[in-house]
This record gives sequence, structure tokens and C-alpha cells, in this order.
Amino acid sequence: MANVFHSLLSFILLLLLPLLVLSSQRQVYIVYFGEHNGGKTYQEIEETHHSYLLSIKETEEDAKSSLIYSYKNSINGFAALLTPHEASILSEMEEVVSVIRSHPGKYSLHTTRSWAFSGLEEGRKWKSLEKDDLLLKSRYGENVIVGMLDNGVWPESKSFSDEGMGPIPSSWKGICQSGDAFNSSHCNKKIIGARYYIKGYEAYYGPLNRTLDYLSPRDKDGHGTHTASTVGGRRVKNASALGGFARGTASGGAPRSRLAIYKVCWAIPGQGKENGNTCFGEDMLAAIDDAIADGVNVLSISIGSREPTPFNQDGIAIGALHAVKKNIVVACSAGNSGPAPSTLSNPAPWIITVGASSVDRIFASPIVLGNGVKVMGESATPYKLENKLYPLVYAGQVINPDVASNLSGQCLPGSLSPEKAKGKIVMCFRGNGTRVGKGMEVKRAGGIGFILGNSEANGNEVAADAHFLPATALSYKNALKILKYIYSAKSPKAYIIPGKTVLDSKPAPVMAAFSSRGPSTISPNILKPDITAPGLNILAAWSKASSPTKLEADHRVVKYNILSGTSMSCPHIGGASALLKAVHPRWSSAAIRSALVTTAGLANNEGNPITDASGYPADPFQLGSGHFRPTKAADPGLVYDASYADYLLFLCSSGVKNLDSSFKCPKHSPSQSNLNYPSLAIPKLSGTFTAMRTLTNVGSSRNVYFISIIPPPGISVKIWPPMLYFNRVGQKRSFTITVKTESEDTGTTEKDMYVFGWYTWSDGIHNVRSPVAVSVA
Ligand SMILES: *[C@@H]1O[C@H](CO)[C@@H](O)[C@H](O)[C@H]1NC(C)=O
Ligand SMILES: *[C@@H]1O[C@H](CO)[C@@H](O)[C@H](O)[C@H]1NC(C)=O
Ligand SMILES: *[C@@H]1O[C@H](CO)[C@@H](O)[C@H](O)[C@H]1NC(C)=O
Ligand SMILES: *[C@@H]1O[C@H](CO)[C@@H](O)[C@H](O)[C@H]1NC(C)=O
Ligand SMILES: *[C@@H]1O[C@H](CO)[C@@H](O)[C@H](O)[C@H]1NC(C)=O
Repeated sequence: MANVFHSLLSFILLLLLPLLVLSSQRQVYIVYFGEHNGGKTYQEIEETHHSYLLSIKETEEDAKSSLIYSYKNSINGFAALLTPHEASILSEMEEVVSVIRSHPGKYSLHTTRSWAFSGLEEGRKWKSLEKDDLLLKSRYGENVIVGMLDNGVWPESKSFSDEGMGPIPSSWKGICQSGDAFNSSHCNKKIIGARYYIKGYEAYYGPLNRTLDYLSPRDKDGHGTHTASTVGGRRVKNASALGGFARGTASGGAPRSRLAIYKVCWAIPGQGKENGNTCFGEDMLAAIDDAIADGVNVLSISIGSREPTPFNQDGIAIGALHAVKKNIVVACSAGNSGPAPSTLSNPAPWIITVGASSVDRIFASPIVLGNGVKVMGESATPYKLENKLYPLVYAGQVINPDVASNLSGQCLPGSLSPEKAKGKIVMCFRGNGTRVGKGMEVKRAGGIGFILGNSEANGNEVAADAHFLPATALSYKNALKILKYIYSAKSPKAYIIPGKTVLDSKPAPVMAAFSSRGPSTISPNILKPDITAPGLNILAAWSKASSPTKLEADHRVVKYNILSGTSMSCPHIGGASALLKAVHPRWSSAAIRSALVTTAGLANNEGNPITDASGYPADPFQLGSGHFRPTKAADPGLVYDASYADYLLFLCSSGVKNLDSSFKCPKHSPSQSNLNYPSLAIPKLSGTFTAMRTLTNVGSSRNVYFISIIPPPGISVKIWPPMLYFNRVGQKRSFTITVKTESEDTGTTEKDMYVFGWYTWSDGIHNVRSPVAVSVA
């Protein structure tokens, strides 16, 4: 009970905190002007920004002290403490593109609340790559610089060794910023730059509590180390984790790429690390502005906001647009708010939006029941039961009397009765509370083993955790089997077989239930997510200042840890983009996205369509165009290219004020569905719609491509011309896609319900495939 009270108290304090700050009236706003016109020194820019503040503030001092950031490189704007009135005056000024109020708590890193560790098999997802020469051809990404917006790095990890790496690319202009437990000696030829951005955070929370986090690029959480090593970690042999789980070679996607660390996310005061972190838009914008000037080639951003955010109010979208103008590839996580539809973040068409799916590796830990039946489970827990049967109970049978009935199976802190649970294996359900926390509660109550059952929403997606007692986790279906046994057996008994790494498990990949879904409510004319990549039970490097569960009570230290989330899948696309960038240095960021999207795979390792966590075929609002295949993406044949100006034209018809003040929208803006995107989305189709696309030949010089179409049910799709002839590399050919409702067809196309199809250009070698999503008005 004391525990519950305690967390309630801190919860109330957390609710009060923003109110206290708000009452002081002043808040951080980003005042955004678009692009710098060039020719101004940093000092002149700052003076210009200052002059805006002078025009609304009473004193020179006030104007000076209110300025938080002056964005001086590509992004033209500043962040300052303003009253709502001052902000509204600025928003009326002609040069101002948008004024964005800071939203504390809006952005966070995209890991699920699941923490575990295990041994290393991370090289695995890249294994298929090694069979061919993409890694060799790209020289393992050696000359590509990947910027990581995250919560720092643990530079001592072997994954960041620079042994045998060549000199830092001469294009690099970044710095290695000193701070707590971090100085220039912590950068090397692998981590070539590191900075941190905290002014927005501190304007809201006050000075950083330096026992919570390092005031430096160093990672006290583990997330930033995990994502950075997934993009560019070196090959580390015989890496293994607590409990002796799977050993193997660890490797990032582009093991020789250079990493530039931009720490923008921080621990939240009064809240355990396991409950999340926060990142401020004004800090991220400053980081992206620097990353562009520093010379990164790829940005990997596993951060997003929960609420749909218009592009002109979204720090990531604005920063990414400036990055893409400089031809930097920007990959972002789709979010972990699935399986509900329209939960996706980072929907901008200049970003690669990444969903998450499983890999073909499980941590098998079945349960043997008293009746001899074996039920499959998964666990990465290093504790074992004695080899015999133990009494088995459902948590609802061993709760304290005051627990609400709808939470009785949840094993929330303090809910179990030690008299009733002692010496037993206790089964709990997912839903409320953290997975690891439920196991801790079973242990606290004297339980000897722990079974974690999925809720219906989690489906078959099992997370292998590092629990504090012998434990295993089950799919929803299997959890119901156990429950049925508990209620039907006279004296239910069970044994948990210790977790063991099993490779080549089938089917894989499977879409993660948590992976956020389209359609985007911000831009329904762009099909998102773009693609899916591994994000379930992913193993990568970890911070030694954190524990595998991030819980304060957990004092275990691990070099490698398992995490789940689109946070983990995004750096896979970041790493793949680095390899593609190395092989095709002149390709635009749109060409790289197109190559990844049009070559993605739709079949699992059983040769069937990739499914969702419930076993139904996944649709493009879950997996985009499919599972990434970097090797195929290196030779896509054709690409759908798009320029910065194309994105601005797209914005003209998006209803938001233009993001670049130097660009004039035409009188009649084209439909947003006409952006030259490698997929097609048409919301609320009525009658006929015709979209335009243009392909660029990046394959061999002479080629003929033929179209094949699988129309969405109840929709007719016609493409003209049905054949495209190319006779040189770089040549462009356009075609039209005419989409029509088949009015005589009733029933199949319900109003507002999306239906899906595909069109593929093929020359017999390359299959350039695009998904189509259509809803009928
Ligand atoms: C950086 O910090 C380390 C300790 O972590 C120290 O040994 C080293 O002398 C410092 N280097 C510089 C250049 O300050
Ligand atoms: C800083 O955080 C630590 C750990 O949570 C806490 O014990 C301490 O009271 C905090 N300090 C301040 C000044 O809030
Ligand atoms: C791998 O590491 C373990 C310790 O973690 C050690 O016992 C074992 O001998 C190592 N194996 C090889 C092949 O180096
Ligand atoms: C449980 O029931 C209480 C009141 O009956 C309600 O406030 C709470 O939201 C419910 N919780 C869940 C998880 O359904
Ligand atoms: C349980 O979870 C539901 C849904 O996530 C939430 O609405 C509810 O407030 C939670 N209840 C408790 C007691 O934590």
C-alpha cells in the first residue's frame, strides 16, 4: 500500500509541476522565419533575432535574458521565453512563418516500456547482407556520417571502438562537447562528434538534477547507446550478457560509419527512468541546425510526439525539412501507440517513417503443466527453478482484498497477498503497470515463479524480459490456455523451462502490435509508415550507468541489452541508408527512400504474407511497403525522386502556412497525392482521381519496364502508359494512375474504410513495387 500511495503522490506532484510553471506566464516559444538567406555572420543573425525581442520586450536586459536559442546555420529562427501576448504579436509579423509554443512532455523516445537483456545475436539481422557485397561495396559505410538525436552515448562500449578506422572525413565540422564525465578524449574516429542541448528542458524544469542525468553527451539511460550501436556499432565478437544468454558477434548496420551524437532527451525529475524521458522541440531544432552545419549525411531520430502535430508546429518536421534540403536522409520512428489506427507520428513526406517488426530469433522458455501439456513462452531471465512442479495460481486468486476487480490480474505494486502467493508460480496479465514491475511484485509477495500473459491487444507479440525471478511470457492465446488449466485442474502445477535462444524461428518477421499505424491524420494523402524493420527484442550496446531494466532497485550492469520499439527499427533504416549513401553518394534523400520502399519484402520466412501480431495479413498502414531489404535497395532499377521544392509545393496545398518564406505557392496547387512519392494514398475518393508519378532510371542504360496492378477491392486502377522505355541512366519517364470507384460494386468498399492494392514496374530483374491505399467518400 505504501508503494501505491507513494507513486500516487509523485503522480500528483507531476501534475502540479506544469501548473506552477505556467502560472509564471512566460513560456518558451520557437519563432520561425524559414531559411537563412546567407551572407550574414552569426553575430548579425543573433542581433536580428534580438531586435525582434527588443520590439516586444520592455528592456534590453529582458530581451537578452529571454533568448534561449538563436538558430543560425540553416534554420532561421529563435527560441525565447515569451508571454502569450508577446507570442501573438510576433506571430502577426510578416516575416514570421510560425510561432510554436513549447509543449513539455510532448516528445519522447520511442521505446516501449520493456526492458530486458540477453546475449548477442545482433549481427543476425544483417546476416543476409553479408552474403553479398553491399557491405563491401559501401566499405561498411566508412565515409558516411550518421547523426543520432537521442539521449547520449556510452563511448567506452566496445561497439564504438575506432580500431583500424581511417581518418575522420575532411567534410566534418562538428565538435566534441565537454561536460559531466565527458571530454574530447571520449570522441574518436568512430564517435566523431558529441553535443548536448538542454536549454529548453531547463527553461521548464530548472537546472538539471545531475544525479538523474549527465550534463554532457554521456548516456545515463542506455537508449542512445542502443540506437547508436544499431546504426554504426563495430563488430564485437563473443559478446554476451548476464545469465550467459546467446553469444555471438554484435554489429551495427553500417559498422564503419561515423557517429555524431546529439543528446536532446533527458530524464524527467521525480519520475524513474523506466517511465520515460522527455525531449523539447526547441532543443531538437538547435541540434538539427547544428547537425546540418556539422556535415552529417544521415539523421536517425527515434523520437516523436503522441498527438498529431501540424508540420508548421513540429520541431522534428521543420528541422528535417532543412536537413533534406541539404540532401541529408532523415529516418524517424513511427511510434509505439499501435495497434489502434491513426496513431502514427513523424508523418512528413520528407522523412522515412519506420514501423517495427520481429526477427527470426526467440528466447524459448515453455511452461510444462501438471497434466503434461507444454505451452510455449519466451524469456531472457537468468534465473532457474528447481526441476520439479510448483503450485500454479492466477494473480486474481491471490490478491489483497482491497484490489479493484478489474485490476486483479495485473500484479500492480502491493496488490498480491504474501500469505496466498508464497512458494507459488503466479500468472499475471499485461495491461496496467510495467512488465518487469509485475514480476517484482510476485517476488515481493514470495512467489517463486512468474508467468506474464499478453492482453488481447498484445496478441502474439511476446517480449523477452530480464525479470528478477524465474519467469516466462506468453501470447494471449497461450495465456488463456494456462488460465483454463488453472480453473479446471484440481491442484494446478507447473514448471518453467529456462529461456534458450532459438534461431530461425517461424514465422518472421511479424508486425509488432505496438508499432503505430496509419493513416496519418496530418497528411492522409501520404501513405505512412513507409517501411518496417526489426524492432522487437533487439539486442544492442548499453550504458553502464543504467541497469537492464532501468529500475533504480536493479543494480545489474550489462554491456548489451534487449529493447523493443520503433526506436529500435528506426536506426536499422538509418544504418541501411548509410550503406546506400556510401554506394550512391549522389542520390537524393528521396531516391534513397524510394529505393528502400520499392524493394521492401512482403513475405515472411514461411513464404506467406507478413502478418500482424494476431496472425492476420498486415496491411500497408502497418508495414508500409514491407520489410526492408538493403541489398535489393542498392539496385532498385528505378526511383521516385523528389526535391526540396516538391515538398514546398506539397505544403502549398496542405493548408498550413508555408515553411519557407522565399517560396511562392502557385495559384492552383496540385493535389497532395501528386507528390512524387513511392506509394499512393487517396482518402475519400469520389468518382475518379488521376495522380502523376515520374520515375528516374538508376539501373542499366537501356531498359523496358512493364506495369502490373493488383487493384484494391472495389476500386479500378489504370496506369498509362503501361510500358516505359529508358535508354540512358538518369532518364525520367512519367505516367498517370487513374483510380476510380466501381459504383456498381456495393458492399466491399465501406465509407471511410481503407482498401489496399499494389502496382509494380518490372523489367524482369527489378520489381519496383508501390502500395496503394484508398478510402471512398
Ligand atoms: C578526459 O577525462 C578523463 C577521465 O575520464 C581524463 O583521464 C582525461 O585526462 C581527460 N582528458 C582531457 C583532454 O581533459
Ligand atoms: C535529484 O535526484 C535524486 C535522485 O532521484 C534525488 O534523490 C534528489 O533529491 C534530487 N535532487 C534535487 C535537488 O531535486
Ligand atoms: C567468450 O566469453 C566468455 C566470458 O563471457 C568466456 O568464458 C569464453 O571463453 C569466451 N569464448 C571465446 C571463444 O572467446
Ligand atoms: C477499473 O475500474 C475503476 C472503477 O470501477 C475505473 O476507474 C478504472 O479506470 C478501471 N481500470 C481499468 C484498467 O479498466
Ligand atoms: C490502466 O490502464 C488504462 C489504459 O492504459 C488507464 O486508462 C488506466 O488509468 C490505468 N489504471 C491504473 C489504475 O493505472
